[in-house]
Amino acid sequence: AKLAVFASGTGSNYDAIIEATQNGKLDAEVVLLVCDKPNAKVLDKARVNQTPLFVFDPKQYASKEMFEAKIVEVLQEKEIDWIILAGYMRLIGNTLLAPFEGKIINIHPSLLPAFPGLDAVGQAFTAGVKVSGVTIHYVDSGMDTGKIIAQDAVHIKEGMTQEDLQQAIQRVEHKLYPETIQQLILKGE
Ligand code: GRF
Repeated sequence: AKLAVFASGTGSNYDAIIEATQNGKLDAEVVLLVCDKPNAKVLDKARVNQTPLFVFDPKQYASKEMFEAKIVEVLQEKEIDWIILAGYMRLIGNTLLAPFEGKIINIHPSLLPAFPGLDAVGQAFTAGVKVSGVTIHYVDSGMDTGKIIAQDAVHIKEGMTQEDLQQAIQRVEHKLYPETIQQLILKGE
């Protein structure tokens, strides 16, 4: 399967996916990285791995429809099967959603529907919950609202800091995301 990873930030999930494709755990190829932040750290990682890039600055486009239309063009040219959102900090609009509905997935650092939106780890930590975790879901037009595909829990033990929680969640993400993508590919959904 051909994957396009969308990221805006550090790219540790992008890295975990690449590693899984290299060690045989994920039967797929990352044929494109889409990034909306010309200075994002994920771009350095993509250059090391020689992943083809589509980097854009939303401010250079008149509207979201315009940049999403351009993205769709690139995705179709590369015959992408799945869009993997990995810290892509934008809502997906209808221009991109319509042609790829059911083929776009996202990872979110909480047990949805708890703590959607920004800083989910901070939200969970501040709320004082004893269990949080990671959710992988299909993307719809809402904020972290699509149908849930997989979840894994992280227990918040006495004395854990927010930073500890962040790290524990990321460890779970790096395992769960490649595994879930592999299952979707095998199911041929
Ligand atoms: C992850 O925690 C993911 O759940 C959220 O954004 C973060 C991206 O981290 N959607 P990274 O850039 O993959 O390190």
